[in-house]
Amino acid sequence: MTDRPRIVVTGAIAEPALKLLREAGEVVTPAPEGTLSTADLHAAVAGASAVVSTLHDRVDGPLADAAGPGLRVVATVAVGYDNADVPALAERGVVFTNTPGVLTDATADLTFGLLLAVTRRLGEGERLLRAGTPWRFDLGFMLGNGLQGKTLGIVGLGQIGQATARRARAFGMRIAYTARHPVSDELEADLDARYLGMDELFAVSDVVSLHCPLTPETRHLVDAGRLASMKPDAYLINTTRGPVVAEGALADALHAGTIAGAGLDVFENEPRVEPRLLGMNNVVVTPHLGSATVETRTEMALLAARNVISVLAGDGPLTAV
Ligand code: DGY
Repeated sequence: MTDRPRIVVTGAIAEPALKLLREAGEVVTPAPEGTLSTADLHAAVAGASAVVSTLHDRVDGPLADAAGPGLRVVATVAVGYDNADVPALAERGVVFTNTPGVLTDATADLTFGLLLAVTRRLGEGERLLRAGTPWRFDLGFMLGNGLQGKTLGIVGLGQIGQATARRARAFGMRIAYTARHPVSDELEADLDARYLGMDELFAVSDVVSLHCPLTPETRHLVDAGRLASMKPDAYLINTTRGPVVAEGALADALHAGTIAGAGLDVFENEPRVEPRLLGMNNVVVTPHLGSATVETRTEMALLAARNVISVLAGDGPLTAV
């Protein structure tokens, strides 16, 4: 037996973070290669003082109860926390932390990658070459759409939305945004962004990029009606959470030409992707790669580890939700 705290790490995290955690307690990694079922997760956390979780784990009252009264902190290695029941954890005296800030640039970069890929038909062009399809340069061949002077409509102007706006400014785009409340005048001036209501934003934007968290209010925010309100030559980019978009309605809209295309990094029922989307040339898909750089994933894991260590040392969390 040991009186060192038991720290359960549910996913594969960067070695420097594991090293930090090992200095602070007994680290258990029950599923280094994959995802745990809820029953296995609950069995694994029994007796834990800390859990380092990923976005696949349901982090809630039953998990805290399965861990027992010694559980002090759950640190998710993600900025989004729709998988967590934060009030239920708080009721049990468990601190819950996430990893804001450190993945902002990586996610905004990927957002812009998808935006460029879909508007300039990069996936389609690559598939054409790889398939050995005959082609030749022609002035009308595979034309995409330029970005200069076009309006990017950002839904949710948090850190990632702002970082996306800055990239879009560099490409000569105009910035519109919608959010629960307008941001400060200073920030609007800095980003050269104008606040619009949700309906107007969807109606006027050439590209709509989603950066709001998944909540009961934003689930299926983009549904058939919302898609129908977009311009037929507009694009939708989603790098936040899949269920913000009604995926079936999006496939219908793309098939019908209601909008021009979509760039998607997240899906309603991951890892499943609506099969119709995979057959469409005007859809660019990536497998939830927003924060997937070595540097960013290391920083995320280190921040989660530091949260755990700080709470276990009695110093409080660094980035509590
Ligand atoms: C997050 O952090 O919420 C991303 O979806 C994964 O990095």
